[in-house]
Amino acid sequence: MQTRLSAHIARLGDVSPYLPPRPARGRSWLEDAQRKIARGDLPGAAYAARRAIAADASLDDARHILGHTELGPEWYVDTLAALHRVLRPQRYLEIGTNTGTTFALADPSIRAVGVDPEPLGPAHIPDGHHIYPETSDGFFATHSRDEVCGGPVDFAFIDGMHLFEYALRDFINVERWSSPDTVVVLHDTYPFDHVSANRRTHHAAVNRYHETFRRVTNQNSVFWTGDVWRLVMILRVHRPDLVIRTIPVRPTGLTVVMHLDPQSRVLSDGYRSLVAAYRRVRLQTFDINKRDILGIDQRPVEQVVSSAGISTHPGHD
Ligand SMILES: C[S@@+](CC[C@H](N)C(=O)[O-])C[C@H]1O[C@@H](n2cnc3c(N)ncnc32)[C@H](O)[C@@H]1O
Repeated sequence: MQTRLSAHIARLGDVSPYLPPRPARGRSWLEDAQRKIARGDLPGAAYAARRAIAADASLDDARHILGHTELGPEWYVDTLAALHRVLRPQRYLEIGTNTGTTFALADPSIRAVGVDPEPLGPAHIPDGHHIYPETSDGFFATHSRDEVCGGPVDFAFIDGMHLFEYALRDFINVERWSSPDTVVVLHDTYPFDHVSANRRTHHAAVNRYHETFRRVTNQNSVFWTGDVWRLVMILRVHRPDLVIRTIPVRPTGLTVVMHLDPQSRVLSDGYRSLVAAYRRVRLQTFDINKRDILGIDQRPVEQVVSSAGISTHPGHD
């Protein structure tokens, strides 16, 4: 029967134009998105990238295209470098250093402190720089600000565990070590889809995928924003005294938080109820007002920080 049917189909020749459309295949949507972004068709590229992700949720390249279409061409590392130039911090703290790409932006002459339970580099760091190989919770529980930094932190980058309760604890601890002029930057605050923003992605898929990703591409990262967006919602609602601006940069935005108050206990006192309440907020709720909640700010970083009254060194951006 099978043979007769195959023979019949073979006699008909190519029947594909007469068949109903085949289900979208992720890779061909991704190629379509890549062609469209190359010729500057951003809406077309965004549409194709979303179709690619819907067909195959593992296609991180499609998420990178969305990063470009929704946030623009600038790469977050360049924005952080610009922040170092305009702020000229004397004390820098980074939570989540990984291979050290962003940690290495700190000037060799300043005090720079990194925290990561699995630091992967850089191999050589200047004398005043130090990476603590521990979790941020462990780090803050066992070290004092003055012992580690010698004074308030001027600039901090929070890029550790991307579950919002961890990022919230990091923010609470960094704020205790801050002054009103401290600038804190949160990474991965702009989510794109349920898979890369999923809390379970970390525990299940990412761990498995991470190994494959590392083997195949020899890179040590995976596109996972987690639910850091929930932290931005908490800060926006419960800390109206903070200035919150998000610089739209690839791949997932940088949220700048200013006007810190090292004496504030709003977040630490409310920690348990905030975590319980915000865990229930759906991504769709955030998505509807995403750009407002994040405070998307297209201006150069120097203007973003100077307009909040933070002293800058103009001409270096
Ligand atoms: C996205 S990577 C950091 C990338 C780096 N900041 C950059 O942009 O080049 C996240 C890092 O957070 C670290 N991490 C995971 N859980 C952590 C925790 N509880 N405390 C501190 N770092 C953590 C991971 O080991 C990983 O290296």
